[in-house]
Amino acid sequence: IKRITTHILQEMKNRGEKISMLTAYDFSMAGIVDSAGIDIILVGDSASNVMAGHETTLPITLDQMIYHATSVVRAVKRAFVVVDIPFGSYQGNSSEALRSAIRIMKESGAHAVKVEGGSEIKESVARILSAGVPVMGHLGLTPQSIYKFGTYTVRAKEEEEANKLVEDAKLLEECGCFAIILEKIPASLAKKVAETVTIPVIGIGAGGQVDGQVLVVHDMLGINQEFKPRFLRQYANLQEVMTGAVQNYIADVKNKSFPNENESY
Ligand code: KIV
Ligand code: NA
Repeated sequence: IKRITTHILQEMKNRGEKISMLTAYDFSMAGIVDSAGIDIILVGDSASNVMAGHETTLPITLDQMIYHATSVVRAVKRAFVVVDIPFGSYQGNSSEALRSAIRIMKESGAHAVKVEGGSEIKESVARILSAGVPVMGHLGLTPQSIYKFGTYTVRAKEEEEANKLVEDAKLLEECGCFAIILEKIPASLAKKVAETVTIPVIGIGAGGQVDGQVLVVHDMLGINQEFKPRFLRQYANLQEVMTGAVQNYIADVKNKSFPNENESY
């Protein structure tokens, strides 16, 4: 199997082939997502919500992200693996940003890191890139800044924020980022960004006129039924499937039909 690289992702944009991306946080799920043929697996700090049950992405630690990343990397044969640097491990201190990125790369074996923000974190981005670590940017609704925004509604609807977003995207490209995530912004703005920068732009809630799409795997599989934003397309209802399976198991244990003779030694 040929490994996906930053070079291949750039070629995909150049020839107009859309890039597919999903999150994964553990070995079993990453194995399924990779075998299915996904291009990029994101070990997202959404693990803070999906895996740990926190309300926001802020509490997850660098050690916890490395644990998730290590588990994912062990399962993946083809996909390009990107890991979120968590809140507090890169902002405002480029030395710490570099240290965090190097820990993720060394200890997990992942292929790249992702950071949230534009001009505010450009020293950190440049420093990580100077060590040869590929960096994915993330603009628009950046969940690590949720307490600044105060709401999870669509970002950059006003001209000022939209202009800054375009400038930030250009800056990230100039710094040397290999791709940019755009989260929950108007489709027309995302289209403009994808046309302005030459690197791949991957959207979540950013419309179809970008170079690829990303979703949280538990959301698109319908494992997590509480989170249903408009941008989410649910491809399965695993909550129903799993609940039914668990209920059948409980019933079989209670009525003594499990285990049967063939299931015993
Ligand atoms: O952590 C995450 O899952 C993400 C994606 C939603 C882009 O950052
Ligand atoms: Na994230």
